[in-house]
Amino acid sequence: MAADKVLVHLNQIFCPNDTGSPLRGKQMDEAVILNDGYIAIKDGNILAVGEGEVPGELISSSTEVIDLAGCVATPGLIDSHTHLVHGGSRENEFSMKLNGVPYIEILKAGGGILSSVTSTRNASFDELVEKSKKHMDTMLIHGVTTVEGKSGYGLEWETEKKQMLVAKKLNEVHPMDVVSTFMGAHAVPSQYKENPETFIDILINEMIPKVAEENLADFCDIFCEEGVFSVEESRRILTAAREHGLKLKMHADEIESIGGAELAGELATHSAEHLMAASDEGIRAMAEAGVIANLLPGTTFSLMKTSYAPARKMMDNNLALALSSDFNPGSCPTENLQLIMQLGCLAMRMTPVEVFNAVTINAAHCLDVADRVGSLKEGKQADITVFEAPNLDYLLYHFGVNQVKQVYKKGELVMEDRRVLY
Ligand code: NIG
Ligand code: FE
Repeated sequence: MAADKVLVHLNQIFCPNDTGSPLRGKQMDEAVILNDGYIAIKDGNILAVGEGEVPGELISSSTEVIDLAGCVATPGLIDSHTHLVHGGSRENEFSMKLNGVPYIEILKAGGGILSSVTSTRNASFDELVEKSKKHMDTMLIHGVTTVEGKSGYGLEWETEKKQMLVAKKLNEVHPMDVVSTFMGAHAVPSQYKENPETFIDILINEMIPKVAEENLADFCDIFCEEGVFSVEESRRILTAAREHGLKLKMHADEIESIGGAELAGELATHSAEHLMAASDEGIRAMAEAGVIANLLPGTTFSLMKTSYAPARKMMDNNLALALSSDFNPGSCPTENLQLIMQLGCLAMRMTPVEVFNAVTINAAHCLDVADRVGSLKEGKQADITVFEAPNLDYLLYHFGVNQVKQVYKKGELVMEDRRVLY
């Protein structure tokens, strides 16, 4: 069968092993890397991937042949944890942060997440769509083709719903795919400071049922952290979310080790995120339950901490890792997933192959979209990121700059030379 398009003469193509399950432990350092490769696309899907001369049957007189000598291709990158939709920014807290005021102290004083709650409540639907679209364009320019976005800057129904409807709208108006997560349990709003129980009841009895009923999100997430939601509270909220058919994620042991990873294991959540302070017991519990560890080293860097999540220890314990940006206005204000990948190597000592698996196939599993994206297997969506680089190692060694040349989404060229084309 002839292709619509064939990308040819790629120096290298990174093909994750697409086994149908997340890659765990040692599997994470395995992949097929093709040299002088081609990728054939038909009807927006991958038709064939191979090395050397393109087989004659893939090319007809109407096939577009694109020469990408000097480039590397990978499956479109997937940013599996972001707080994409939010109003405002928080550079007003930057000098406080540089002066050593801890993240949780800023939140307790009514700033931090609560300051973004005010900005998000005050922003109109259209303003949020426009602002988020700009953030997505920056992500796309950096090679991302699928993104997760959380609510959690409303902390009351109207604004939480607005954020989730914005995410739906973005899915329609932007070429990137958006996976939506409800995170009403992101902080306790100021008026419930003295009686958080009341807010938790609202989450469980009002908001979660409505998220499910109105089909507003696929996942439910929670900030399980000292001074935010305890392990016991997280258990109640996540259990209710599961009863309503939502898949579970949690921000676990980001700052303090309070048993978040253990709870992820106990509930067998889909993933647990951050885990900078996860205990050995928690890591084992997650491995046993098959929970994906989604690591966010950009946050560690931006919070100016030195205790990066123990990626190597996690892989030694046979965990599956994903890597993501955590893009948000507070703890990690960057859309650049390449920088996060470089931190995966330089700060967490992951290998380049482990890093690419963590932002492609494992990130797809983390969002439960691996049936469509995350690899270059025949029949999958032709989401492809093309980098101007001689090889994969170069992409992680040459840090802090954008090396993406082209992005294809469902087979269409949607970004070239830092310009969005949709
Ligand atoms: O993943 N920790 C909670 N949520 C985000 C930060 C959100 C914010 O500061 O606005 C995080 O770090
Ligand atoms: Fe986060």
